[in-house]
Amino acid sequence: MTKKLYIPGPVEVNADVFAAMSKPMIGHRMPEYATLHASVTDQLQTLLNTKDPVFLSTSSAFGIMEGAVRNLVQKRCANFANGAFSTKWHDVTKRCGIKADLFSTEWGQPITAKMVDDALSSGDYDAMTMVHNETSTGVMSPLTEIAEVMKKHPYVSFIVDTVSSMSAVPIDFEALGLDVCLAGVQKAFGLPPGLAVCAVSRAALDKAKATPNRGYYFDFEEFEKNDLKHNTPSTPCISLIYGLDAQLKKMFVEGLENRYQRHADMAQATRNWLQQQGFGLFAAEGHRSVTLTSGTNDGNTDLEQLKKLAGEHGYAMDNGYGKIKNKTFRIPHMADMTMSDMEEYFSLLEELLPQVRS
Ligand SMILES: Cc1ncc(COP(=O)(O)O)c(C=O)c1O
Repeated sequence: MTKKLYIPGPVEVNADVFAAMSKPMIGHRMPEYATLHASVTDQLQTLLNTKDPVFLSTSSAFGIMEGAVRNLVQKRCANFANGAFSTKWHDVTKRCGIKADLFSTEWGQPITAKMVDDALSSGDYDAMTMVHNETSTGVMSPLTEIAEVMKKHPYVSFIVDTVSSMSAVPIDFEALGLDVCLAGVQKAFGLPPGLAVCAVSRAALDKAKATPNRGYYFDFEEFEKNDLKHNTPSTPCISLIYGLDAQLKKMFVEGLENRYQRHADMAQATRNWLQQQGFGLFAAEGHRSVTLTSGTNDGNTDLEQLKKLAGEHGYAMDNGYGKIKNKTFRIPHMADMTMSDMEEYFSLLEELLPQVRS
């Protein structure tokens, strides 16, 4: 049975996106591709407020996350973590043979500016990684405050995963002084998985050229050389790029401010609903995500059974991630979802909850 997705990525993909993706194939060295590539990267630059290049990587997000550390760590990397994906980035960094240290905080809590400043003040690091919106916990860390302290550490590359926040909240690449800002398109962009986007600063591009062992597939110099010709180093996922072009055009028609407000409204409605149903909110107050909300199990709800029942009704439910699975569960509210999608899901869960509560 096909299930309507209420998981925090991949998300439900609308029919108009699939239609845009089914255009006849073109070759990536044909002028038609350069036109498509330029259209997408121009719109991404507008979305992120940058004139620096935004690369299109045919990979999931972790491809370019690995690429970012391979390009930008020459000395030692500080990986800040407050959930599963940020912790995994530390593991990925070390697996590349890069020297790295992990600075963790409790799941449910944000990465703070003080934590970043304290760690980087040692002078041991030339790069840092963090996840803006931890999809495993529903915590959004205060990027503006962190960006402020990063100004004290201009030689530390500022590498940020906005996998589940890009396009749902304003991210001003230039004002924040980011070096790398990346996302996979299967979250707030509302596309099928397989493509990642990545803005890279001029300083980071220059630094990367002097970093040894960058490999080929995620080499920023290769990306830049090709991007100047509106192209990619190797064959890209052209159908997804057609889809992204269509999604970006739709975003600008909706209006970015309206889009951000729609996400904020759905997030607030979800928090309210969870609390009305007797659940807690896992993410610390003031740091709750606008693209997904983690509810805390009240201890009397069989979330595994709830997921099974939801599945039988044609809905894919999430029952938490990693070490907080079943202790929490996540409700997504991103991409093309609307308040009526949220209400549909709340009604379903209200119908099922009495059957799974003791
Ligand atoms: C915040 C965050 N970072 C990284 C990833 C990894 O992305 P991918 O599976 O596309 O490599 C995810 C996936 O859910 C994520 O939510």
